[in-house]
Amino acid sequence: MRLDKLLGQAGYGSRNQVKKLIRSRQVYVDGVLAEQDNLNVDASLQTITVSGKELEHAPEVYYLMNKPSGVVSARKDKEHQTVIDLIRPEDQREGLYPVGRLDRDTEGLVLITNNGPLGFAMLHPRYHVAKIYYVEVNDVLGPDAPAFFESGVVFEDGTICKPAQLEILSSASDKSCAQITISEGKFHQVKKMFLAYGVKVTYLKRISFGDFVLDEKLPRGSYRPLTEEEKSILKRYLN
Ligand code: URA
Repeated sequence: MRLDKLLGQAGYGSRNQVKKLIRSRQVYVDGVLAEQDNLNVDASLQTITVSGKELEHAPEVYYLMNKPSGVVSARKDKEHQTVIDLIRPEDQREGLYPVGRLDRDTEGLVLITNNGPLGFAMLHPRYHVAKIYYVEVNDVLGPDAPAFFESGVVFEDGTICKPAQLEILSSASDKSCAQITISEGKFHQVKKMFLAYGVKVTYLKRISFGDFVLDEKLPRGSYRPLTEEEKSILKRYLN
């Protein structure tokens, strides 16, 4: 990030005020006088001092979002609105990204952070993070369905899924509702699993991701910061 932008975000004033600060020879990067405001710096890797005071590394942020349908789980997209576009300007941070991906038409829980290693750790197969989805399909889910999902669904291309737990909430010839728990994150996994059973997913919503549960009071398209208690859960993944 540019030095002037970083200092602005750290509370050192407007762009002009920050420029003056740099020109008045009060800013050092790793002990070297910073002479240009467009210097590319990284506060998590470098020591930046302003008037002799060390700049504190901006703390990471963690948001839990209720993603609406139609929005992509990516940082940027040429065509569609992204989950990062839904973050208010005052909550924006350099490097914000969604942990894992939901399809554009899938709703529900997405964690968003600027903590780079966290996403890698939480998505690592070693942790088997359980994800629970609420699913609606276009046909009957018979009494054989839970065993079908538990035995490891096999996709058309031979991909074998880990056992998944299915709880049928209602079943009818035009619409059935269920909850499914999976511990992997294959592309379109839930939709493909139901396809392998012979039905089509018509609505999909992620209601939990590990210990994080979607708060039903959180309106679609809204987000909230993680609580201190929730943040302490994350330490498990970062050690
Ligand atoms: N499985 C899917 O098929 N889609 C999602 O968005 C998430 C899981």
